This record gives sequence, C-alpha cells and structure tokens, in this order.
Amino acid sequence: MAKIIVLMGAPGAGKGTQSRLLQERHQLPHISTGDMFRELAKAETALAREVRAVQAAGKLISDELVIRIVQERTMRDDCQNGYILDGFPRTTAQATMLENLAIEQGKTILSISIDVPFDVLEKRMAGRRTCPVCGEIYNIYFKPPKSDNVCDQHPETQLDHRLDDTPEKARVRLKTYEQQTRPLLDYYEASQRLRRVDGTRDTEVIYAEIEKIVCS
Ligand code: AP5
Ligand code: MG
Repeated sequence: MAKIIVLMGAPGAGKGTQSRLLQERHQLPHISTGDMFRELAKAETALAREVRAVQAAGKLISDELVIRIVQERTMRDDCQNGYILDGFPRTTAQATMLENLAIEQGKTILSISIDVPFDVLEKRMAGRRTCPVCGEIYNIYFKPPKSDNVCDQHPETQLDHRLDDTPEKARVRLKTYEQQTRPLLDYYEASQRLRRVDGTRDTEVIYAEIEKIVCS
C-alpha cells in the first residue's frame, strides 16, 4: 500500500532538508505546508497579508485553511504512489483529517520524528538561508554556500533569511510546537506508526536511517 510519510520534528529539526533528499532520490512529492504558505503570502490579497502576519509571528495558520490546501494538493496525480508531508499535521484536528484522507486515498501513514535538542534548533534557525529560486536550504554554520549569501546553483540570486527565524520568533515557534504539535508524537506512537531518528548527526547519516525506515 502506498505510504503517506509524515516527517515530524520541531522547527529547524531538518524536515525540509530530509524531505528534499527523499523527493530527489525516491521521486516522492514533497508537500511542505510552510513552503506553500510562504508562496501564497507573496500575493497582495487580504488572505496573503493574513498568512504573512501569522507566519511572521510564529503562530499557526487556521486548521480550516491548512486542511483545505493539503486536501487539494494531495488529490493531484503525482501523489498516487505516496507522498511526503513536511509540517503537517501540527494539531489534533489536522491529524484527524489526515486519518480520513488516508482511508479515502487507500494509503498508510508512517510518521518519522527527527529529534534535535532545543539549543541546537535555535542555532539551526538563526543560521538558515534559503534559495528563493530552487528552495535549496543552506546554513551559515553547518552548510554554507560556496560563495557568500548566494545559491550554488543560482549565483545571481541572494539567499533569503526567513522572517520567522529571528531568536524571538524562533522561541514562539518552539513553544507553539511544544503545546500543539508534540502531543501528536504520542498519538502516532500509541498506534505503532512512529519511528524516531536522532537528528543531531550528519545529514546523510540521518537520511540513510530515514530511507531504511521508508523502504522497510
Ligand atoms: P514550516 O515552514 O513548516 O517551519 P517549521 O516547522 O518551523 O520548520 P522549519 O522549516 O523551520 O524547519 P525544518 O525542520 O524544515 O528544518 P530545515 O530542514 O530547514 O512552517 C512555518 C510556518 O508556517 C509556521 O510557523 C506556521 O505559521 C505555518 N504553518 C506551516 N504548516 C502549518 C500547519 N500544518 N498548520 C498551521 N500552520 C502552519 O533545517 C533547518 C536548518 O538546519 C537549515 O539551515 C539546514 O541547513 C540545517 N540542518 C538541517 N539538518 C541538519 C543537520 N543534520 N546538521 C546540521 N544542520 C542541519
Ligand atoms: Mg521546513
């Protein structure tokens, strides 16, 4: 049965980094609700302004909107053989919706938590830079680009520093994660659908473990 791979973990844990590798090497669509909303927020509409403000504050977008966007995206043809969810579900309501979606789509849910301690997370967020063209994720401390502040593949473009990656906003996001999202780990654990990986190691070492879990 095709799998819905749910990559879980606190802000900065490496969900995006690992999802991109899985997408590239296993041709599974990478569905990041954070990326989708950052894209949506670029428009000049009332909804875009609202999304921009919520994201910049480190708070959560309403379940209703997130659920709608995930439902629409996962109905596309490219999701038939499974897909990766990065940053979804984040609340109990979202997890309930995903159960129904999995039944409707005839897929099983496999949740993988990337575990990283909070002090490391803060540094990862502070150092993160992203290419606005291809979405490649860099880090000035752990994975610097070859030339200062430009993407290796798109040297004409300056890297982005996310608005919610300031120390103050990062703390709000970590708190939101603790309160609303961490309890979902117990939920998946109780139904034997949770695997945990130590996210403090080298990216490729973590990837090899995730790949083994996904392919087993
Ligand atoms: P989202 O974009 O999902 O952000 P997040 O959950 O806070 O996670 P991040 O993207 O910060 O971290 P990541 O785990 O992807 O880490 P990354 O691989 O980049 O959500 C943003 C906002 O959108 C939310 O706050 C909310 O407002 C809204 N939103 C999204 N989904 C929602 C939902 N379902 N419901 C409601 N609202 C929602 O890595 C981080 C850094 O570390 C990078 O610089 C990377 O290079 C580096 N790094 C990664 N792995 C390693 C490693 N092994 N060693 C050293 N460095 C590493
Ligand atoms: Mg991410």
